[in-house]
Amino acid sequence: MDNLNSTVEFGHSLRSKFLLEDDFIPLNNGSFGAYPKVIREALNSYREKFESNPDLWIRRNLGIDTTGINAVLKSIIYESGDKIIYFSTSHNAVKNSLQFVRDRIYDKLELLKVEINYPISDEELISKIIGIIQEEHQKPNSRIKLAVVDAISSVPGAILPLKQILSILRQHNILSVVDGAQSVGQIPLDLKDLDPDYFVTSCHKWLYCAFSVAILYVPERNKKNLRPPVTSVYYDIGFTQEFSWVGAQDYSSYLTVLPALEFRRAIGGEEKILTYCHDLAVKGGKLIASILGTEIMGPEHIIPNMVNIRLPVDISNERISVEVLNNLLFEKYRCYVLPYKHNGYWYIRASAQIYNDLSDFENVGKILKEICESFNNMVK
Ligand SMILES: Cc1ncc(COP(=O)(O)O)c(C=O)c1O
Repeated sequence: MDNLNSTVEFGHSLRSKFLLEDDFIPLNNGSFGAYPKVIREALNSYREKFESNPDLWIRRNLGIDTTGINAVLKSIIYESGDKIIYFSTSHNAVKNSLQFVRDRIYDKLELLKVEINYPISDEELISKIIGIIQEEHQKPNSRIKLAVVDAISSVPGAILPLKQILSILRQHNILSVVDGAQSVGQIPLDLKDLDPDYFVTSCHKWLYCAFSVAILYVPERNKKNLRPPVTSVYYDIGFTQEFSWVGAQDYSSYLTVLPALEFRRAIGGEEKILTYCHDLAVKGGKLIASILGTEIMGPEHIIPNMVNIRLPVDISNERISVEVLNNLLFEKYRCYVLPYKHNGYWYIRASAQIYNDLSDFENVGKILKEICESFNNMVK
């Protein structure tokens, strides 16, 4: 494939295989991903095939399912007194969907937030969840129906102790829906072992697929009552067909799963990709932190291929905002990392991808230092 083989060295030599601008330092794969050029070619060719005979392609070649957390949240039938657990670090899209279900569909539904402020140990996080479950058990007519759990949260970019959390939820008969948007292609996953009730992951972020590709995994036991969020002519005729109709709306994108997996195999396979990106995130994060004179967000085992680094600026500095930082990064410095506030500090989230190397982190570290110094000098 495209003259690639498993001995290919990762880093800037792979930049030309992607569509990324030459004069920009992309350290934010975690938001939107970026697919290799071979995927664009596959996508175009699938689109052409699709348009050459839409009837044949839509009616005969379906098979890849997609939908998301909305399908799960809106399919479950809740009763008065039911509650849903979610995390303060859940993605805003998920929080909004929860709010919609509560406000517009089930006004008796209560949302229970698990507050997570890093640094936090896995034990502390688990005991917070158990604490909430035990407190609810004391109340009459209260039932925790469902928990929405991240495999890897987006902001901060952090691995959660998913296996332990799912096991606790199972022990208490609480359904689980895993927001795995950041997971596939970033960490190893064994869904049979994890045994979630519902699992959703996007494939455009870390798997190199075209935008809008996602996987919804549902064990047999939960397929029966699950409906796509969009109701089509295929209603109530079975899980695969109902969800395939939703998938058909962007069918050519879904087919890029195959060339994406082929690309991953051609450059050396999952272990090589995951190890390179993870090691680079850890080393790169430490390098940026040392340039800034701060630290990475810990504990270290929460780091996937994204790393969070504290910025040496005061949270009360009103000149600093996400918008101001974004403008500086995009326009003046031609690079991007995701800035955000957490637990009383400003942080950035930096992603490591196969087209990055340590020099990207070093350059971005120097840029961030300059930016922070300019803000700090303004208040002096
Ligand atoms: C953990 C997590 N959940 C949900 C989303 C939203 O995914 P989408 O934009 O595909 O709806 C993201 C996107 O960054 C994410 O990181």
